[in-house]
Amino acid sequence: MSSPAEPKTTGAAETVDLMDPVLMSDPFGGFSRMRETAPMVRGTLPGTDTPIWLVTRYDDVKLVLSDRRFVNDPANVPGMDVQNIREKAIQARGIPPEYAQYLLDGILDVDGADHIRLRKLVSRTFTARRVSELRPRVQEITEDLLDRLAATTADGVVELMERFAYPLPITVICELVGIPAEDRPQWREWGKALVSLEPGRFGDVVAAMVAHIQELIERRRAEPAGDLLTGLIRAHDEDGDHLSDTEMITLVLTLVLAGHETTAHLIGNGIAALLTHPEQLALLRDQPGLMPRAVHELMRWCGPVHATRMRYATEDLEIGGMPVRQGEAVMAILVGANYDPREFDAPDRLDITREPDERRESHVGFGHGLHYCLGAALARQEGEVAFQALLRHFPDLALAIDPKDLERQMLPGSWRLARLPLRIS
Ligand code: HEM
Repeated sequence: MSSPAEPKTTGAAETVDLMDPVLMSDPFGGFSRMRETAPMVRGTLPGTDTPIWLVTRYDDVKLVLSDRRFVNDPANVPGMDVQNIREKAIQARGIPPEYAQYLLDGILDVDGADHIRLRKLVSRTFTARRVSELRPRVQEITEDLLDRLAATTADGVVELMERFAYPLPITVICELVGIPAEDRPQWREWGKALVSLEPGRFGDVVAAMVAHIQELIERRRAEPAGDLLTGLIRAHDEDGDHLSDTEMITLVLTLVLAGHETTAHLIGNGIAALLTHPEQLALLRDQPGLMPRAVHELMRWCGPVHATRMRYATEDLEIGGMPVRQGEAVMAILVGANYDPREFDAPDRLDITREPDERRESHVGFGHGLHYCLGAALARQEGEVAFQALLRHFPDLALAIDPKDLERQMLPGSWRLARLPLRIS
C-alpha cells in the first residue's frame, strides 16, 4: 500500500463535492491541499441544500468540536428552518418518516443538557476501567476467531475483513449491549446494508433493526441480565429518568452501528499499514510494549473516520480569519487535522514511536470535545488485542495481493478497505 498521503489529485476546487470519487480515493492528498490553500473551503453533500464549510487545520478542527457556539442540532440555532433540514436528510437517505427519530435524534444529534443526560446513561459502560476489565473476554473472542481462521484455510490465504476484522467488534459490542449470539450475523448484514447506501433498502433495514431491539427490550424486562440493555431499562424504571423505549432503541442502534463498522476498519487499515511498512512491523514485533502507541499512530495515520457530523454556528464568528455566518454548517475534516504539519512533525510518515505519552491523545481520529467518541477506549483496546494476536499467531503474515490492488470502499468521510486478503501461512 502506498502512503495514503501520496498526492494523486491536483488543486483544490472552489466548492468541493464530498462524494467526488477522486477525493474519496485520495482524501489525504486532497484535504491536505485544501488545508494549505485556505482555513476553510466550501463543500457539498447530497441531502444538504446549503454549502458546508470544510475545516481542515488542526487548531480549527479542535475549535469547531469544542466551542459551544457550535451545535449539532440545528434547532438550537435561533431562526433556523429545522423542518427543511430534516426533510432533506430524510429524503436523501430514503428514511421512512416514521423511523426518522431513530436515526436523526441520537446522541450525536443533541446538545447541552439533552446530550449530557444520554451520555451519562451509557458512559459508565465505556470508562477506561470497565473497558480494561473486558480485555480478557476480548482476548478470548480474538483467539477463538484466529484459531478458526487457521483451521479453515486450504491455501493459507484468508479474507481478513469478513473472517476477523468484522466479527471481532460485532461480537464484543453485541455482548456488551446484550444482543444474543444467534442474532449477531443478522446485525452484521444490517450494518452492511446501511453503509452500502443502496437506495430503497434503507427503510426495511431500519424497520427490522428497530423491531429487533424492541423485542430484546421486552425480553430483558422479563429476564434481566448483566448487559447494557438491562442497565438502560433499570435507569428507566428506577432512577425516575424519562428514557423512553424510542430513546433506548436509538441508543442501542447507535452503539451497535458506531461500535463495529469503525473498529473493523481500524483493524483492516492498521494491519495493512503495518504490512506495507516492514520496518515499523519489525519494531513492533521486537518491542510489543509499543502497541498502545502504535494504535494511536495508526488511528492518526489511517484512522477509518475522516470527517465528523455537521456542526451549526449559533452566531456569526470567524475561523482562521474567515467569516462563518449564524446558521451555517461546518464539518471538521479529521484527516486534514491529523496530517497538519503545524501539529505533527513529518505527518506523512508512519512512526509507531511517535506519541510521547500514550495517555495523551493528540490526533483527532476519535473526534474531540463534548461528542468525543464514547467507545474510543474500547476501540483502542480491540485494536491492540487484534494486532498483538495476529502478529503472534502468524509470524509470516503478509498481504496476499499487491498493495496497489487493495480496493477501497468509496464512502465520503470514511477510509475503508473493501477486502483484505492475507497470507497467514
Ligand atoms: C463518536 C470515531 C469506535 C461509539 C465518535 C466520533 C468519532 C468517532 C470521530 C465523533 C463524531 C462527531 O463529533 O461528529 C470512532 C472510531 C472508532 C469508533 C474511528 C473505531 C476505531 C466506537 C465504538 C463505539 C463508539 C467501539 C461503541 C461503543 C460512539 C458514540 C459516539 C461516537 C456513541 C457519539 C458520542 C457523543 O455524541 O457524545 N466516534 N468511533 N465508537 N462514537 Fe465512536
